[in-house]
Amino acid sequence: MTQRIAVYPGSFDPLHNGHLDIIQRCRPLFDEVVVAVLRNTSKGKGLFSVEERVEIIDETLNDLDGVRVESFSGLLVHFMEAVGARTIVRGLRAVSDFESEFQMALMNRRLDSRMETVFLTSREEFSYLSSRLVKEVYLLGGDCQGLLPPQVLRRLAR
Ligand code: PNS
Repeated sequence: MTQRIAVYPGSFDPLHNGHLDIIQRCRPLFDEVVVAVLRNTSKGKGLFSVEERVEIIDETLNDLDGVRVESFSGLLVHFMEAVGARTIVRGLRAVSDFESEFQMALMNRRLDSRMETVFLTSREEFSYLSSRLVKEVYLLGGDCQGLLPPQVLRRLAR
């Protein structure tokens, strides 16, 4: 039987509890989930390097079978082809996410019509969370307990 492989792509700088929740909830829907960390981001200098992000996500997902993490550059659909995936998983927080997510889903389908995007709605308690906001709170000395997995908090403390 063909393996149902999904890719959960993102910048993950850093991975926050909203991301983790989406990974845990999408895992049972597929045979394997590949968390894909984007390399060629236009978002400027990151909090963590791509290598550190991959390491942290790997450490955080250690107990979760059927999930692995990789980095990718270039087009997402090319990466998906390379890992044999046909489904893109994205989290949807609020109406404001919808427009850009809709555009990305349509663009990806145009680039490769075999690729489908599946959206999981975020849990209420994480619906306001974004890496950008958490990064800002952290850099300005705010408390990030409960927003970030312990593995990320430990790295930040180093
Ligand atoms: O966490 P983010 O920053 O919202 O994730 C955005 C991401 C990585 C999913 C998106 O930028 C992406 O897929 N980039 C790869 C380049 C690409 O394939 N672009 C064309 C389709 S949108």
